[in-house]
Amino acid sequence: MAELSSETRFLHAVEMGLGAWQWGDRVVWQYGHGYGDSEVKQAFLATLNEGIRFVDTAEIYGSGRSERLLGQFLKETDQPVLIATKFFPFPWRFRKTTVPRALKGSLARLGVDSVDLYQIHGPTPLMSIDTMMEGLAECVKDGLTRTVGVSNFNPSQMLAAYSGLARHNLPLASNQVHYSLLNRTVEKNGTLARCKELGIRLIAYSPLEMGLLAGKYSVSSPPPGARARNYVSLLPKIGPMLKLMTEMGQDRGGKSNAQVALNWVMGKGALCIPGAKNPQQAQENAGALGWRLTEEETARLDHASDAILES
Ligand SMILES: NC(=O)c1ccc[n+]([C@@H]2O[C@H](COP(=O)([O-])OP(=O)(O)OC[C@H]3O[C@@H](n4cnc5c(N)ncnc54)[C@H](OP(=O)(O)O)[C@@H]3O)[C@@H](O)[C@H]2O)c1
Repeated sequence: MAELSSETRFLHAVEMGLGAWQWGDRVVWQYGHGYGDSEVKQAFLATLNEGIRFVDTAEIYGSGRSERLLGQFLKETDQPVLIATKFFPFPWRFRKTTVPRALKGSLARLGVDSVDLYQIHGPTPLMSIDTMMEGLAECVKDGLTRTVGVSNFNPSQMLAAYSGLARHNLPLASNQVHYSLLNRTVEKNGTLARCKELGIRLIAYSPLEMGLLAGKYSVSSPPPGARARNYVSLLPKIGPMLKLMTEMGQDRGGKSNAQVALNWVMGKGALCIPGAKNPQQAQENAGALGWRLTEEETARLDHASDAILES
């Protein structure tokens, strides 16, 4: 692995964070139905209580509500929290100046002077990667963020971002991508290997596959809302792997399916950021820390997941 730069090293010491897409999002997560401000605040506090200090949000989550809630919660704690947020490349944002301008909006909602990681939410043909990186470089130069990263970039886009930032003498801190036992694209397309080689932290989003890996959903009891549609073809296939995860967790002194799923992601060398709607989920997810699946257990899970993904 490349030598880590002093600016981005902190990210490699973080194994787990908290995803805050759930905070305020009604479309996918049904915010306001079964959970709301009070529950996510308790989830945040439970997370800090477990020693987890990294929160991932974005300007588009809940149309700014996620950042505003995080800002509110930060004011009410004296614990240090690492904040990661994201720039969404809307079609009308194609100049580099739109990047620091958007970050200033995020900082105002968060109520802080700078964040620890500012990420481009995804690539778009409407804004070149070089322009995006120039915008991110401006953010660092202006002291608005400590480090910069990307999200949803494939290996060649990630290399373009890495080179673009290198022209400004800046390291690419991270690539935030979909990674779970039910989505292993980043293993197969070389993203994970490239990240390790170049010292880029791979941040795994949807590490519980939006709740599916916790084991509570099935064909007869699908997840609510938009998630049900996404997982129509996957749900009938996951039973055997969930059973294996439960058996493995029991052999490990009662680890839950969610804990096994998160431990698997961390064992692969990624920083995982599970979302939590309430303190119980946050606390349970933190129980994936402090132990490690063996190589043999990991191989058995790989095999069970291959059987699903290759069918
Ligand atoms: N960069 C991007 O494009 C991108 C895309 C997606 C996500 N993200 C980030 O990644 C974070 C995590 O991904 P995600 O929220 O999509 O999915 P996830 O972390 O895989 O799943 C989170 C959901 O699983 C359920 N859950 C969580 N912990 C549980 C537990 N212990 N037991 C049972 N159920 C549990 C909850 O939903 P229910 O209770 O409703 O089942 C929760 O909302 C997001 O919050 C966001 O910060 C980024």
